[in-house]
Amino acid sequence: MQTIKKLIADKLVEGICALGAPQAPEASELVGMLEYPPDDTMGDLALPCFKLSRTLRRAPVQIAAALAECLGNMPSVEKAEAVNGYLNITVSKDYLVNTVLGGIIEAGEAYGSSEVGKGKTVVLDYSSPNVAKPFHIGHLGTTVIGHSLKKLHEFHGYKCVGINYLGDWGTQFGKLIVAYKKWGNKEMIEQGGIDKLVELYVKINNAISGNAEQGIVADPTLGDAARAEFKKLEMGDEDNLALWRWFIDISLAEYEKTYKQLGITFDSYKGESFYTDKMPAEVQKLRDKGLLKIDDGASIVDLEPYGMPPCLILKRDGSTLYPTRDIAAAVYRKNTYDYDKSIYVTSAGQSLHFAQWFKVVELMGYDWHDKLVHVPYGTVSINGAKLATRTGNVVLLKDLFRAAIEEVSNIMTEKNPNIENKEEIAEAVGVGAIVFYYLSNSRIKDINFVMEDALNFDGNTGPYAQYTYARTCAVLRRAEGEAAPTSLSITAPDEAALLKVLAKFPEKVSAAIADYEPSVITRYILDVAAAFNRFYHNCQILSAEDPDVRATRVAITRATNVVLGNAFPLICMKKMEKI
Ligand code: ARG
Repeated sequence: MQTIKKLIADKLVEGICALGAPQAPEASELVGMLEYPPDDTMGDLALPCFKLSRTLRRAPVQIAAALAECLGNMPSVEKAEAVNGYLNITVSKDYLVNTVLGGIIEAGEAYGSSEVGKGKTVVLDYSSPNVAKPFHIGHLGTTVIGHSLKKLHEFHGYKCVGINYLGDWGTQFGKLIVAYKKWGNKEMIEQGGIDKLVELYVKINNAISGNAEQGIVADPTLGDAARAEFKKLEMGDEDNLALWRWFIDISLAEYEKTYKQLGITFDSYKGESFYTDKMPAEVQKLRDKGLLKIDDGASIVDLEPYGMPPCLILKRDGSTLYPTRDIAAAVYRKNTYDYDKSIYVTSAGQSLHFAQWFKVVELMGYDWHDKLVHVPYGTVSINGAKLATRTGNVVLLKDLFRAAIEEVSNIMTEKNPNIENKEEIAEAVGVGAIVFYYLSNSRIKDINFVMEDALNFDGNTGPYAQYTYARTCAVLRRAEGEAAPTSLSITAPDEAALLKVLAKFPEKVSAAIADYEPSVITRYILDVAAAFNRFYHNCQILSAEDPDVRATRVAITRATNVVLGNAFPLICMKKMEKI
């Protein structure tokens, strides 16, 4: 509706000037003032005239009446009415059929995109799991929100760099090396993969700290041994380095399987270890600027004036910390990519960490500090159960996906047993169901995952959205090879209603980017699906007798196919032509 809003706004500028405005208003401001009425019987757009009444020194009712007259003869406007100080506008059928419908079909894959980001670079840091720790449902958020934001920005013409900032450094590797030497061997890891690594990791944690439930007594000497092994790794010990690289490769191979199911690729896998030799320069800079304070032996940046606890830079033994690495990585990425925006997607639990080191970067005098954006999201629980990480009591992402795929496969065996590519479809629909369910919520809200809800083919779910897309494909397959329509015309209210929803796609994309909120797209897909299914049930498409009516309806189906087809990848959902 953005295009029609602009057309109307331009005309409104004329009308407002004619009413004696001391200064011509900006059309863009009027675009912003145009609202969607709560009920579509009132029209498609509404302009509240109360604010204008101050500058024009007239009653809102009078202004609305005058502007209604001014819009009256626009071909794109069917009706403009003044109601209680509001100007209610109904878009014309001619506009819907020629400009909206024609425009969507002509633009095709480009519909909804823009070039506002052309020449600008956005760096996105997301997924970023910690190697050898379980890749669990808590990582779903960063992975799919991050990738959606990447897709959305690309759709707006930005050059995007997706970075998987692997947690590939830290004392956990010392623990893992001890555990491996004590309980593991090569074949065991080669066969068991990341699951075995996680098992070893859980076992060593239990052994170090003890586990009363399992009758394990704490053995602090193992903690010392782990620290010693990590120290050796830091000093470049060849054997430990080889083990470390191997653990990373094993883990990455596993993550890749999950990324592939989601259709996600990264442009860089530079993890925390990459920044080891880049931190000293930043620490020195902090020191030179007089920002470092010694507190109980540790080096910190005092953030009290900004209402935050201190940011820890070096531990007492001189080793670096999570914020130190993030600072060095931000500088490196700025130098490498010269980003206009650098986005970090993590759970809200890390909000303070980001606020702290963003402030430190500002205090260091880096003028790009305002290009850093933290995008937090809420927690996930499954059927009400919270997740624990260290004890190994977690739901792994791959298990969740497997369960969903199996379930979809069973449903398909019942509903459509002879379909080709059953496995591929079951995977896309099963994984898509989880992603869609997750991304239906505002990202900051905590969510409770209920599998049956996610997979409900009749609910507002991913399978329902995919089913709707497949339905548009089926209609188009049957209409293939038909002659182009001679003239298009709208003859039913459900046609107009659907086109009005389709017209909103570009502004939904803009809103999703502005708020870093993929759920805007997810919810919009549901609006499209609902409007299409109403149209599908109430209007005959292929069986319509009048060739123009039939052609118009096929074209509307094609436009729906374009919009859903463009929207799905923006939320990491694959599109399937048949389900
Ligand atoms: N590896 C971290 C974790 O799993 C997330 C990293 C987020 N990115 C960053 N630049 N700090 O908690």
